[in-house]
Order: sequence, then structure tokens, then C-alpha cells
Amino acid sequence: MKNYNTDVSTIPALGLGTYLITGAEAINVIEQAIDLGYRHIDTAQLYENEEEVGTAIQNAPIDRSEIFLTTKVWPTHLSKNDFMPSFEESLRKLKTEYVDLLLIHWPNKDIPLEETIPELIKAQEQGKAKNIGLSNFPIKLLAKAIGLGARIICNQVEYHPYIDQSILKGWMDHNNLLMTAYCPLAQGRVFKDEAIKAVAADYGKSVAQVVLKWLIQQENVLAIPKSSNVERLKANLEIFNFELSEEAKKILNGLSNPSQRFVRPSTEPDWD
Ligand SMILES: NC(=O)c1ccc[n+]([C@@H]2O[C@H](COP(=O)([O-])OP(=O)(O)OC[C@H]3O[C@@H](n4cnc5c(N)ncnc54)[C@H](OP(=O)(O)O)[C@@H]3O)[C@@H](O)[C@H]2O)c1
Repeated sequence: MKNYNTDVSTIPALGLGTYLITGAEAINVIEQAIDLGYRHIDTAQLYENEEEVGTAIQNAPIDRSEIFLTTKVWPTHLSKNDFMPSFEESLRKLKTEYVDLLLIHWPNKDIPLEETIPELIKAQEQGKAKNIGLSNFPIKLLAKAIGLGARIICNQVEYHPYIDQSILKGWMDHNNLLMTAYCPLAQGRVFKDEAIKAVAADYGKSVAQVVLKWLIQQENVLAIPKSSNVERLKANLEIFNFELSEEAKKILNGLSNPSQRFVRPSTEPDWD
């Protein structure tokens, strides 16, 4: 596994996404993933599975400290009065005293960052969030959050072969921020792609393995694919025994013209 280190944590570059897995299935999938070696789990208030994620982690035969756990505060909970109580409810559901990473899920244009960022910082100062970060933040708002004194470690954004994130990534690299790729498999769209299928055939790997490798091979990029199938969970982890050539990377890099985004919020941030 490739890892990244912050002042206080080690973050596995490949994590488990948990959107749309709930109930008994979620507990089962997360327990299986931990058994397979997943040590980085991504959830959010929106996913309505924090209780199940907490149960699976509690049931795991390893210490809580071995898991890097992320949750995200939903944009309607970003006011000074709402942020902490809503995060504390997440902690109760997750059955833990801290998360390893707390993110603002999306910016909310009606609640200024001046109001939310001090609460995010407070969560870290109180030891309830070991690391803090953002999600779906464009450069302008990232810069503003940093300017307000938040020691942000990452921005979780949509990233797969069909979206060009080079401008954002260039800025984030310059500011020492990790990029966590969500929807790394473009929600399944990659599986129909003839160009990626051809690269996968060349390497004797699956399409998912080639796409995840293309992401993880980039410096400062992490990925959190979701699967609820044990064979696919296992296969998605098996990407650390090969490297993509410059030629293969070029083929995948070429798929983002035109750049396509598949996840959109109800109120769109200014993406520049
Ligand atoms: N911050 C945000 O705003 C935000 C937004 C969206 C997502 N996310 C996070 O990112 C995670 C990943 O995104 P996502 O779940 O939307 O999409 P994704 O990971 O790009 O794709 C998931 C789809 O790929 C399939 N799949 C996974 N591995 C496969 C394999 N090896 N072979 C064939 N099919 C495979 C899954 O089906 P099976 O389950 O049947 O294998 C599922 O249908 C989410 O779960 C969530 O944690 C964050």
C-alpha cells in the first residue's frame, strides 16, 4: 500500500467509498473490506450509514487506531450553531471519540466560511478531528479557508479519467494539499471504455485496476472506490504490483477532453 503522512496520521492512498451502502449490507461490506486489508474508510452524514460504519469498525478484530476514518458535514449544517452539534451526532453514530479526517462536504454559498472554518478548527483543537479538510472546494474557496487559519490537508473532489483536474491539482500541489479522488471509476462509466479496456488487456489487469492505478500513481492523489462485492473489493486493492508506462498514462490523460463532471450539487460553487 502507498501511504501519505500528515503530522499526526498515516493515510492509505486507497480507501473504501461507502455511498449508497446502508443497513446490514453496509456492516457486512465494511467488515469484509477490513478483513481484506482496507484501512481507510470514507463516509458522510449524507450517506446515512455512519451507524453501520461505526458498528463494522467496532466489530473489527483490529484497534480503532488502525483505521483512517473520514466523515463529512453536510452543507445545511455549516452555521456556527449547527456545525458542532451535527458533528458530535456523527461521532455518536460512528461510536468513536474522534474521526481521522473531518471534511466540509460542499461549500454553502449562503453560509460564509468565516462562520464555518472556526468551528472546523475547533473540532480539531478539541481532538475530535485529527485532521481537517474540504470537499468540492474550488481554488478561490480553498485559498479563503487557508487564509482563515485552517490547517487543511486535503480536498476531496470528483476525479477520474473523464475530468481534467490539472489546474486544481497544480494549485493544490503548490499548497501541499492531497487530492482525494471520489467517483474514481466514474460511477461505473469506465467499464464501457474501449481505450481503457485495451490498456487493461495489455497489462493483464482489469479496467478498475488500471484506472485506480492511474490515479494512485499520481503524486498526492488518493482514491476511494466503492464496491459492495467482495471479489471486486479485493481486486481494487491489488494495484500495487505494477506501474503504468508513460504511454498508458497518456492514453488515460487523453480521455478528459472535453472534461466531464458527473456529480453536481443543487447549488453549484464557482469552479474556477
Ligand atoms: N465528496 C463528495 O461529494 C462525494 C461525491 C460522490 C462520492 N463520494 C465518495 O466517493 C466514493 C466513490 O464514488 P462512487 O461510489 O460514487 O463511484 P465509483 O467508486 O466511481 O464507482 C462505484 C461503482 O463501480 C462499481 N465497481 C467498483 N469496483 C469495481 C470493479 N472492480 N469492477 C467492476 N465494477 C466495480 C461498483 O459496483 P459494485 O458495488 O457492484 O462493485 C459501483 O457501481 C463514494 O462511495 C463516496 O464515499 C464523495
